[in-house]
This record gives sequence, C-alpha cells and structure tokens, in this order.
Amino acid sequence: MRISIAEASRRLLHGEVVAIPTETVYGLAAPLKNPSAIERIFALKQRPTDNPLIIHLADASDLAQYAHPLPPGAETLVRAFWPGAMTIVIPIDIETIPSMARAGLSTAAFRIPDHPMARSLARSVGALVAPSANLSGRPSSTAPGHVEQDFGMDFPVVDGGPCPQGVESTILIFLDEKWQIGRLGALPAEAFQKILGYEPAVLQVRSLAAPTIICPGQQYRHYAPKARLILGTTDYTGTPSTVVGFSERAYKGATQILILGLSTAPEIVSQNLYHVLRQLDERHIEQAWVDARIPDSGIWKTIADRLARAASDDDNR
Ligand code: TXA
Ligand code: MG
Repeated sequence: MRISIAEASRRLLHGEVVAIPTETVYGLAAPLKNPSAIERIFALKQRPTDNPLIIHLADASDLAQYAHPLPPGAETLVRAFWPGAMTIVIPIDIETIPSMARAGLSTAAFRIPDHPMARSLARSVGALVAPSANLSGRPSSTAPGHVEQDFGMDFPVVDGGPCPQGVESTILIFLDEKWQIGRLGALPAEAFQKILGYEPAVLQVRSLAAPTIICPGQQYRHYAPKARLILGTTDYTGTPSTVVGFSERAYKGATQILILGLSTAPEIVSQNLYHVLRQLDERHIEQAWVDARIPDSGIWKTIADRLARAASDDDNR
C-alpha cells in the first residue's frame, strides 16, 4: 500500500513500521526512541537479534547526542560523504540508544541518507532505525514492488520510485586506529583515499586480528534468490540455460537472458542487481549462470561481493 510522506510520519510517530526509500535501498523504518517498534522490525524481517540496525539521522550535528568524542577522522568523513551512502560505526553512550537497535553492542552505526523523503521523515519524526526492507537473507528491495513482494500488498510503503544506487551503504568501522570497511557498498573503497590519506582495508568477517564478529550482518547468507547461482569466470558453455549477464555480450545456447546492463556501466549494473536477482524467483528459475567476468575495482567489488553471497550455499541466515 503506497502512502504519502505525511501519512508515513503520522504512522511512525504512532510507533508503526513503514518502508521508506533511500538513495541506496528501501529501508524498514521505526523511530529510534521506540523499542517496541524496533522489536517489530526484527519480527517482520525474521532478523536474528544479534544483527544491529543503522540509525538514520537528519543532520550531522545530531551525532553529538549519541557519541562524544568522535574517533579521529570521523568529522572529516562526515563532512565529505554525508548525506550519502557511508555508514560509520562508532563507540556510543549506551544510554542514548535502545539495546535492541545496537544488538547489545557498545557501538552503533549511523548515516544520513541522501534522499529527500528519508531525510524529511528523519527530520519530522527524529532519528530512524532502518534495515533494508527485505526478509532476512533475501535480496534488498530497490523498488516499492519489492517491499510488497516480501511483506504483502497491504504493507505501507512511501513510493520514491527505484533507488538510484541500488546497493547498500558502505560501512566504515574505526578499528586498530584505522577506518576499515565492514561492508562493501555503494561508495567504493577508493573514494575514501583522498579524504583519509589511505584506502581503508576490507575486514574479513573473522580475522586473526579480530576473532570476534565485527560487522554482524556479514556472517549471514544474504542477498540470495531461491535459484542456485553459478558464477561464471570463463566462457559460457550453454548450461544452465538461464543467464544473468551484460547487454553487449553474446551467450550462445542461452534460452533466457536477464540483463544487468552494459559491462561498461557499473552504476547501472548496481542499480539493477537486486531487481534481476528477484526476477529469477518471480520466474521460478532454479539455476542460472551469472557472468562474473568483471573488473576487480571500484563499485564492481561491491557487485562481486553481493553475487558471491547470493551464490553461496552456506545456509547460515
Ligand atoms: O544502505 C543501507 O545501509 C540500508 C539503507 C536502508 O540505509 N540499510 C541497511 O541496513 O543496509 P541493514 O540492516 O540491512 O544492514 C546493516 C548492517 C548489518 O550488516 C549490521 O551488522 C551492520 O550494519 N551494523 C549495524 N550496527 C553495527 C555495529 N554497531 N557494528 C558493526 N556492524 C554494525
Ligand atoms: Mg540488509
């Protein structure tokens, strides 16, 4: 059910959960100050309670209410990338954030979405928690119709059309005196080089240096359609007969090709990615060959990460 911004604001203030557009993906929003609404988000998504949420602010000056002082470099990052697809994880004053939103951690994740509708709601309602608006484990929603596929036609959605970026925000975590990437996202690692003076490293889910889970969401199977995906890194040989690929390439023997875009236009490919993964399920496709012959740089790294997770049979959801 499509609702206006005014109606969304009214519902949020009454403690209801509504889906809202952001520049990355749609989010399932609830007011940060309403723990029972936050609990409903976890129930709706069937999300494990050890996976914390991102807090969406209207203005950078709001950050000081939750965290003081900020880690070195945080202010420079915020000035350079907010509003936008950068989420920062920082130590917080735990009294200011309901435990469920941060999964009991002493840190929390923040961003200011670069979307007029999301920002106007964060302004009228106050800070909003908003995980991606999909059932846990499924591809994120990048259009109102995707939210309705997962939560039903009666679920309230603010219709902002398709999301311009199509993949989630990049998560930066300050760890061992450096900013590191907890989740690859819409902003490529290279984008931070100029601001930080170094390119943040991508954290592995568990590493020797960090034996505990650092970015909890990364341990779960994610972004996955029901179809089994075969990531193709050499020439396509005709099986399986469904292909997820690029518009200017030929796939001899394919009976059905789902198009991500031109292989020279990664921004368009990331916009289309989840829609194409969702189409596989709509068409009840059981297996598909995915053209994974893509560069190892920029936003392509994020696309490769999502494809690898979507193809993984590790059933830890
Ligand atoms: O683009 C986005 O970030 C979207 C839109 C709606 O803003 N949101 C989104 O939220 O992707 P979600 O809940 O699907 O992913 C949040 C990620 C999870 O991987 C979670 O583990 C991580 O953020 N996260 C949240 N708080 C954290 C914390 N304190 N420490 C480490 N990771 C954290
Ligand atoms: Mg998500």
